[in-house]
Order: sequence, then structure tokens, then C-alpha cells
Amino acid sequence: MRCIQLGVCLAPPILTYFMRQLKSTARGYVIHPLRRVCVVTHDDEHVEDDSRLQKLSCRQLRTQTEMEAIFAKNGSETPEPVEAEVRGSIPSWLQGTLLRNGPGLFSVGNSQYNHWFDGLSLIHSFTFRNGEVTYRSKFLRSETYKKNCTSNRIVVSEFGTMVYPDPCKNIFSRAFTHLCNAIPDFTDNNLINIIRYGKDYYASSEINYINQIDPVTLETVGRVNYRNHIALNLATAHPHYDEEGNTYNMGTALIGLGLPKYVIFKIPAETSDKGHKKPALRKVQQICSIPFRSTMFPSYFHSFGMTENYIVFVEQPFKLDIIKLATAYFRGVTWGSCLKFDKDDATFFHIINRTTGKAVSTRFYGDALVVFHHINAYEDDGHLVCDLITYSDSSLYDMFYIRNVKQDTSNFVQSNQSFCPPVCKRFVFPLNVNKDSPRGSNLVTLTDTTAQAAMQEDGSIYCQPDTLFEGLELPGINYKFNSKKYRFFYGSRVEVSPHPYKLAKIDVVTRKHLEWKQELCFPSEPVFVASPGADEEDDGVILSSVISSDPKVSPFMLILDAKTFTEIARASIPTSVHLDLHGLFIPD
Ligand SMILES: [Fe+2]
Repeated sequence: MRCIQLGVCLAPPILTYFMRQLKSTARGYVIHPLRRVCVVTHDDEHVEDDSRLQKLSCRQLRTQTEMEAIFAKNGSETPEPVEAEVRGSIPSWLQGTLLRNGPGLFSVGNSQYNHWFDGLSLIHSFTFRNGEVTYRSKFLRSETYKKNCTSNRIVVSEFGTMVYPDPCKNIFSRAFTHLCNAIPDFTDNNLINIIRYGKDYYASSEINYINQIDPVTLETVGRVNYRNHIALNLATAHPHYDEEGNTYNMGTALIGLGLPKYVIFKIPAETSDKGHKKPALRKVQQICSIPFRSTMFPSYFHSFGMTENYIVFVEQPFKLDIIKLATAYFRGVTWGSCLKFDKDDATFFHIINRTTGKAVSTRFYGDALVVFHHINAYEDDGHLVCDLITYSDSSLYDMFYIRNVKQDTSNFVQSNQSFCPPVCKRFVFPLNVNKDSPRGSNLVTLTDTTAQAAMQEDGSIYCQPDTLFEGLELPGINYKFNSKKYRFFYGSRVEVSPHPYKLAKIDVVTRKHLEWKQELCFPSEPVFVASPGADEEDDGVILSSVISSDPKVSPFMLILDAKTFTEIARASIPTSVHLDLHGLFIPD
């Protein structure tokens, strides 16, 4: 039996439901001194009134206080390493550092950010050595961080928070200057991921700046502007790496940089100087550029796929309105409001040869969707297979406004009826087609998928995906299998809200999955680290930083056996740790 606290501001239908639930199934209830209703239920009882709440047992419902503590509270840094208390046995071969990045500061002085993705970057490191774990964290000393701290308020706009440093003074002249620049010089608050170019590590987001960090001390070395090396306004925080250590990434060149286009580029492995003082980007090589389908409405993209021979770019109908973007400051709206999902448009799949930079001439397309994360892509018997986490609309971004993420679960569900959970889908593109291929029939001959691709009268190919799994985000794989046929992926389970509350391992062959969860815990994106000399794809461990809304549970680094998905060790951190987004494991 479990006791779940629900906030006093329950919407009437929910309250009615709970009163009915109390009468019918609960064994009793008490009125908490803080005027909260305490419902006693069986562990496996499920809420019945709302179809989406049915997916969560009562024990998984979170109160507003808990959600605020997890998502909206300011984090703090731990600049000197602290030793974690290890329970269980960490494999002796696990030697290295897991770097993580995410938003950690949501207010400065009396000013607050509106959106969770606006928070100032907090970098974490978990170092594994000889069965022990040490932790440290530091705020990224970006120019944005320094300007905000100096002013003791937020003075640099973020994607969901537009700031007017001095709203009383000559706003029109500033707006005019802004329009002349057309595209704003974005924030350098790189809060999304840690990426490697050459042998240098950078905190990264999706704009033209990245900030180099020292992976040991977490000191900020200094920022680098993509535009000093390659014509880009935006670049993803999710590059790919090949076996030689080269890095591949994609960006967008808007206006003011020649013709607008998407750009795919490569940073060779051997580009770092001894002192790590010269930016690896100075050796950047452009692989190719792809023109926008619509000049003023480029597609937003957060990641891309890579196979042994090809790059896969999904040009989705989730688009950036350039005119709106260029005038956002003047109009007093956020940059986030300049993104729009066109549900009546199609999704286009570009397949580009990694060596020649030439695009496959066949036009592949599918129904409108939104994608943030690619899972993996590979070639198989004349086909290109591409696995994605998809959404049927763009509501996910709105879910992460601070006012939303700190709501208790039931209120969140009630006020965000439009939330559509992520669905893992497999698209298959037949590569050996020509103008004489049969029209209308399925050209996919792989036997392990129901994905279809049918040539239309005009020679284009309409693709319908195969659903692999529902309710999972922040995917990861054994990266040795990136670009190759693979069997397992891992991720964070999200169902009725975007708050991750379980980890899962998916078998794409059997379509079965395993889960790890602990009551009142929020695990971060799972990271796979392979055992040395491993032959099997899932021979290794899963690392996940876990925080809990239970004050009696310290944050901990969870170590799972990737094969069985069972816990083999946890390292409790004796200081505060904040929920993060993405990261990178650097072996010793
Ligand atoms: Fe991401």
C-alpha cells in the first residue's frame, strides 16, 4: 500500500474521481495537516477516469512541490570533486568520466526564465576510477552567464525568454539595429550537450557559439563562433563520430551568409593543437549543402542520422519563420514563437553520400511529423533503415515552459491535453530503385519490418513507417553499432507527461522491453558503455544520473547491467545534482 499526496488545487473532475476512488477501492484516507488529500491505494492500482492517467499508477503521480524541486529550482555547483558512497560493485574495467550538461539556473536576481530549455548551463562530471566515483559540477562561464551575474538579472534573451535590458530607453533604435543584423546574435548559453571536435570538448546548444571546457576541471576555456570558420547561424548539439574519430555535424545558414541552405560538415580527428588553444573548427570541411525547400521557412532539426555511406537529414514540416525571427525582438515575442508545425505539409528525407556529398536523386517523403532525436540508421540489403523518435505535432516544446513542468502530474495532464507521447518509428528507404520501378507496390523487401515505401506516378517514393515502441525519449545505443545494423536501444520512458520516470531497454528484433524504475525517482538519459573486448551488442553497463523528489534519497549514479537491465551498483552523491539533458562518456 502506498500513500500519495495530491495538491489542494485539484480540478473538480479529478477531485470527484478521487472521492469515487476512495469509496470504491482505497482502504482509507486521512486529511493531511497541510490540507492535502492522502490517498491510500494498492501498488498496482491505476487511475481510471482519464485515459492518459490510466498509464500511471497512483504512486507515480507527482505533487507540484515535487515537480518544482525537480525542474524549476535553481541548482548549485560543486566545483571540487566529492566522493560518492558506492553500494554494490562497479566493474573494475569502468574507467573514465561521464560529462553531462543541462539547464541548472532558472532565475537571476529577481528575473526568471520562462522555459526549461532557457536555464543557464550546469556541467556535471562523474568520474569512475577503480570502483570509486567522484562528482563535481560547474556552471558554464559563458558570456551570457557572466553578463547576467554582473547585472544580477537576466540580460540576454533565450529561446523562450525575450529580454529587454532597458525597456524605457529608445527601444526603436535598438530594434532598427536588430533588423539590420537580420538574424540575432544568439545567446552562448550552451546547455544541451557535450560534443567533441578533434580532441577538444565543448558545451553545445543549437546556435553559432560553442564553449570549450576542460573535461577534468570543468573550467570554461572560451567560446568559439562557428561563423569564424564556416557560414552557419545554427548547428546541432548532436553530431556523429566515425571510428577514426572524425566528427560530422549539420547546421543552417540563414540570411546574410550567401544563399540560405542546410550544411553538412566534418571536423577531422587530428585537428587539436597540443595546448588545446586553437579551435578544432579551423580545419572544418564542408561535405555538402542542401537548399531550403522554402527559402523563408527552413526546417528545424535537432539531430540527423548517419550510416556507413550516407547522412540522413529529415526535412520536417516544423519550420522556422525567418521574417518572424528577424522581427521577434521588435515585436516583443520570443524566438520560440517563430517555430511552426505545418500539419498539412509532408516530411522529406534527404540521403547524402558521405564521401561525395551528392544526394540520392530519389525523392523520399512521408506524412507530417516532428522529430528531435534519431536513434540509429544503417544500410541493409539495398535499403537504408532510419529509426526516429517521432511526434504527431510540435506540442512538446510548449510542455517545457516552467509553468508547465512544475505542475503536479494530474494538473499537467488536465491542462496539456494536446501532449502527444513520443513514438519510435522505423522508416525504410529502398536505394536500388529507378524510373522503371513498379508504381504503387511496396518496394521494401526486408522481412523484419512492416515499413513500406511505394513509388508514386511522378517517381517519388511515399514512405510509411513501422512502429517500434511507444513512450520513449532520449535514446541511446552502444555507439560501436552506430551506422550499423543493431538490435538494442535504451531511453527514458515518458508517457502522460515529458517527465522521465523510468529507463527502458528495447529489443527491436523481439519488440520486447525491459525497465528500471524506483519510486519518486527521475533518471537521466541512459548512456551505454561497452565492456572491454565485448562481442555482444549489450555486453556493458548503462549509466544514468538519478535524482529523487524524496528528501531521504540522495541523488545517485545508477549502474545497470545492460544485458539484464538490473542494478549492479549505485553511487550516492553527497551534494545536490540537477536534472540534465545529454552527455558523453570519455574513457580513460
Ligand atoms: Fe537532444
